[in-house]
Amino acid sequence: MGDIILSEGNSTDRTVFVLNGPNLNLLGMREPEIYGADTLDEIAGRLEDQGHALSLAVDIRQSNHEGHLVDWLQEAAADRALAVILNAGALTHTSIALHDAIKAIDVPVIEVHLSNPAAREEFRHKSLIAPVAKGTICGFGALGYALALDAASKF
Ligand code: DQA
Repeated sequence: MGDIILSEGNSTDRTVFVLNGPNLNLLGMREPEIYGADTLDEIAGRLEDQGHALSLAVDIRQSNHEGHLVDWLQEAAADRALAVILNAGALTHTSIALHDAIKAIDVPVIEVHLSNPAAREEFRHKSLIAPVAKGTICGFGALGYALALDAASKF
């Protein structure tokens, strides 16, 4: 399956990238008792409206491939994005490449998780994103993305 570009925003406003990692294309049908009933499309629609109200362009993407997320983090820096909101999915717990990519760029990254990984299996307790993120929002379901966009609007 290819990458999903859900929204590209518009060119006049400052842009916030919203990057989603592996399996997040399945939101809505994937373990809804953990991740909620909203699809990524529905979340994207709401973020676009919120971005519009905040005069922010919101560029929302999903990929199951680590390297694509690295490329997009570098693209956010090249585009002088205001912020990146990143739900790296399971790569959160394993990816030195994403850790290094975030360190290498000059754009603040807000780590988001729908669930609260600290309250789940032990292997989810470690985040390689958290030490290089500006902050982390987790455990509030899809609302976490909205909270992160609100935070980004104040950068
Ligand atoms: C997740 C939490 C991760 O542990 C998991 O691998 C995901 C989703 C979340 O949003 O709660 O894919 O990032």
